[in-house]
Amino acid sequence: MRDEHDYSLLRHNTFGIDARCRRYIEYCSVDEAILTADIISQGDEPYLIIGAGSNLLLTADFEGTVVRSSIRGISLTESADGEARLCCGSGETWDDVVAWTIKMGFCDLVNLSLIPGDVGASAVQNIGAYGSEVCQVVDNVMAVEIATGRRVTFYAADCAYGYRDSRFKGEWKNRFLITHVTYRLSRRTALNLEYGNIRAELLRKGINTPTPQQLRDTIIGIRRSKLPAPEELGNAGSFFKNPVVSRAEYERLAKRWPQMPHYSMDDGREKIPAGWLIEQCGWKGRRLGRAAVHEHQALVLVNLGGADGIEVVSLCQAVCRDVVERFGIELQPEVNIV
Ligand code: EPU
Repeated sequence: MRDEHDYSLLRHNTFGIDARCRRYIEYCSVDEAILTADIISQGDEPYLIIGAGSNLLLTADFEGTVVRSSIRGISLTESADGEARLCCGSGETWDDVVAWTIKMGFCDLVNLSLIPGDVGASAVQNIGAYGSEVCQVVDNVMAVEIATGRRVTFYAADCAYGYRDSRFKGEWKNRFLITHVTYRLSRRTALNLEYGNIRAELLRKGINTPTPQQLRDTIIGIRRSKLPAPEELGNAGSFFKNPVVSRAEYERLAKRWPQMPHYSMDDGREKIPAGWLIEQCGWKGRRLGRAAVHEHQALVLVNLGGADGIEVVSLCQAVCRDVVERFGIELQPEVNIV
């Protein structure tokens, strides 16, 4: 177990914010998670559970204990009919898991290639991209309850998954230390090429029937062309959620902006890309202090170098103000602002 005092979080947030915490604990096993639960439930300090820090904006030093999992391990159990369960330690890097499953001949996770973050966060945040969401394959989440040190297992149906949302972000926030996530994989799963420009991009490369690895490479290519690499430009991926509006609200907007992109949801509502709304307000590529709206993807806020969290929040507020004024839509941050 790692246990540090007065510790810099610079390496633990992809925004590249140089904030500190009073104490930092990393647990490497279920027993250490139980010990960590005991320490933080006894202490009078606030605590903050983080993953790889790829969806985190720190606005100040954290006057308390930051906790992170570094439980490793990937184990596959396959039955004769090609169905499998993949149990992963919560501290495994998500994209390493994706790459490993593809090597093992499973394509269930391929559309979620290169999403930054850890396994634990995948199940909290219900990560999604290119027409897939991780909740479609989560079988169960194992955790330690902080208040009691008890081990618990939740099945996907218990977790109330929604768009970038789960019970772990709501009523269960700060109640559990996740230790493992088990995913359901199947050799019968077909590739999903239907989202956005995936098929067009494959055809451009002369590929009609891609292998899972070719689809992975294509998705990685699309992501790299739009999303800045955190090592070069601090960022946390999509800063905002794509707003979801009622059908009536959508029709009111579409009358005025017929070119507005939208995705129809199963419940009859419409999802509108925040990136488009922000670009229409003239923010794409614009800076405010040392923070900016990314020039290739207006959904992403970036740290131009040396920005503190407050500067990024100011930019977020300025963008939100303009989007409300023009479209009457309130954007919600996707990033966890602390
Ligand atoms: N658009 C603009 N201007 C922009 C950005 C986007 O007009 O600056 C338009 C695009 O032309 C397109 C639409 O908005 O018509 C949607 O854009 P895109 O397909 O790039 O996806 P997105 O809605 O911006 C979402 C996820 C991403 C995920 C991609 C691909 C959210 C908040 N974001 O972005 O997730 O990778 O779809 O599936 O749902 C993340 O969560 O960190 C993330 C990157």
